[in-house]
Amino acid sequence: MIKCWFDYKTVIVTGASSGIGKGIVKKLIQEHCCNVIGIARNETKIKALIEELGSNKAKFSYYLFDVSKRENWENFAAEIEKNNIQPDVLINNAGILPKFDKFAHYSMEDIESAMNINFYSCVYSMRCMIPILLKSDSAGIVNIASSAALCSLAGTSVYSASKAALKSLTGSIREEYRGRLYIGLVCPGFTKTDIFHNQKGTVDSKGEKALNLVSSDCEKMVDAVINGMWKKRSDMVFGIDAHLMSAGTKILGVNVSRISSKVLKMSKLDLFADVFTE
Ligand SMILES: NC(=O)c1ccc[n+]([C@@H]2O[C@H](COP(=O)([O-])OP(=O)(O)OC[C@H]3O[C@@H](n4cnc5c(N)ncnc54)[C@H](OP(=O)(O)O)[C@@H]3O)[C@@H](O)[C@H]2O)c1
Repeated sequence: MIKCWFDYKTVIVTGASSGIGKGIVKKLIQEHCCNVIGIARNETKIKALIEELGSNKAKFSYYLFDVSKRENWENFAAEIEKNNIQPDVLINNAGILPKFDKFAHYSMEDIESAMNINFYSCVYSMRCMIPILLKSDSAGIVNIASSAALCSLAGTSVYSASKAALKSLTGSIREEYRGRLYIGLVCPGFTKTDIFHNQKGTVDSKGEKALNLVSSDCEKMVDAVINGMWKKRSDMVFGIDAHLMSAGTKILGVNVSRISSKVLKMSKLDLFADVFTE
């Protein structure tokens, strides 16, 4: 029985091999009977996901490619069309979190990589996939940004910029396609996933405890994303830290960045050591 607009639909999920993306894939298949096309680079992790899908594994197929390369999306779109596959929904979830650091410490490669993976991947995917999605009568796109798009902190310059760019792009495209394409934007707060692997080496036990304290459980974040999508919500802010940043920015403006950065500095967490030492 169909309960929701994306039940039994074909959904493309980037970053399907881990964390929030992997959780979304499992829920779409197990609870919404979707056919999911997952995109990621790590085949070992994708194969582990397939094992976890058990008897539902036939509902999952995958492509291994780097989402930050335009030609990969052009080839993917051509392949989808050649095989007469009609995707209904695209979830742009793949992303990286560079190590917390000062803007001056990042190499140009670090900056370009974050922009390419977190922002340009979505530019390419939407340019290539929107014409195909529009042939569906239940077309939709969900872009996973971050609470970092709502409020910039010291140490997150490049990540915040990449996610704020995605937020702005999403808002404009939503209006351009209103009535023809549902477009949702998700700004999650800290969530317990592998995304913090770039921070390893600097996370002391105090830092890890602090991160755990403010981070949402991944399954809860996935439930929130799927529920928001179900209701066709436009802007979704999930997680206590994300709500604080969102409300704080509305009330106090740039002062939230100042106060939050001061708190991080005073916390003396190893995690942010490179941000606050000269
Ligand atoms: N966790 C958080 O605290 C948090 C907070 C706010 C927003 N977010 C956002 O939520 C999204 C998912 O993050 P997560 O926490 O689930 O992270 P994660 O566990 O590290 O998963 C990231 C996923 O992105 C894929 N990916 C990364 N770079 C890629 C590339 N160049 N090409 C293809 N796939 C790529 C990875 O797959 P492969 O390694 O197999 O390529 C992996 O499946 C990201 O956009 C992130 O910015 C996360």
